[in-house]
Amino acid sequence: MRDFATPRDITRMEDCYFYHTMDLPGIGRIEGDWNLLPNITEYLGHVSFDGKRVLDVGCGAGALTFYMEQHGASVVSYDLDKTGDWDMVPYVKWEQRLNVEADRKTIIDRLNNAYWLSHKAFNSKAKVVYGSVYDMPDLIGAVDIAVYGSVLLHLRDPFLALQNGLRFVRDTVIVADLAGDSETSRPYLGFLPDAKTLEPKDTWWNLRPQWVVRAIGVLGFEDTEIIIHTQQYKGQTVYLYTVVGKRTHGQVIPANPR
Ligand SMILES: C[S@@+](CC[C@H](N)C(=O)[O-])C[C@H]1O[C@@H](n2cnc3c(N)ncnc32)[C@H](O)[C@@H]1O
Repeated sequence: MRDFATPRDITRMEDCYFYHTMDLPGIGRIEGDWNLLPNITEYLGHVSFDGKRVLDVGCGAGALTFYMEQHGASVVSYDLDKTGDWDMVPYVKWEQRLNVEADRKTIIDRLNNAYWLSHKAFNSKAKVVYGSVYDMPDLIGAVDIAVYGSVLLHLRDPFLALQNGLRFVRDTVIVADLAGDSETSRPYLGFLPDAKTLEPKDTWWNLRPQWVVRAIGVLGFEDTEIIIHTQQYKGQTVYLYTVVGKRTHGQVIPANPR
């Protein structure tokens, strides 16, 4: 049976991969590809976390987890560990695929390490569960808020990922993703993989915010708001959206929190 993860004692930066810029107490600023720090309130939909139990789906090195915890949340962080599989696009013509899948496990392990090093620096009480987003265990228990930060575009089945996680959510879901360059306001899920270029390799969807609104509506979250904002990626300004959905129908499926 799965359980909360045992904390890792990570002290060496070279064992870590930081995807986000983070300001670690006692260590200082660690630069990552993404810097969400200047606009993190927009990224998280201006939602208040004070006194809330939150599930951070696809937590990475914990940039959102530790921010939400510092703003009063009790957080369960969820991500893959090296025993899990990222949904790489299975191009038949891609000869290096198996090697890259093995490399990806190393990256995930280093990302997990970065989380634990940060966890210690923040003196965090956040709990961690490792596993696939398609198989989130009951031990997570009921939460007030679930955050899906830039994870759905990387998943072969983003609806199943929402369906799995939203069964734990009493009140609010926050979904942030790339706004992309499409002007359509239709609930569109654009298929990105192209066998001619063999790109992208770890991303599946141009996922319109209206698709998110429809998907979470099906799952009982019909009171929605879409926020457009900019974030910094490798020094460039990138447009993203955040959908905040409030539960209007249904309830948490009973689980067994610990
Ligand atoms: C692009 S990062 C997003 C990090 C952060 N949540 C944010 O908002 O920037 C995607 C995260 O989702 C995780 N992830 C990808 N596929 C997953 C899966 N099938 N199950 C669980 N987590 C997954 C990755 O390991 C990674 O930490």
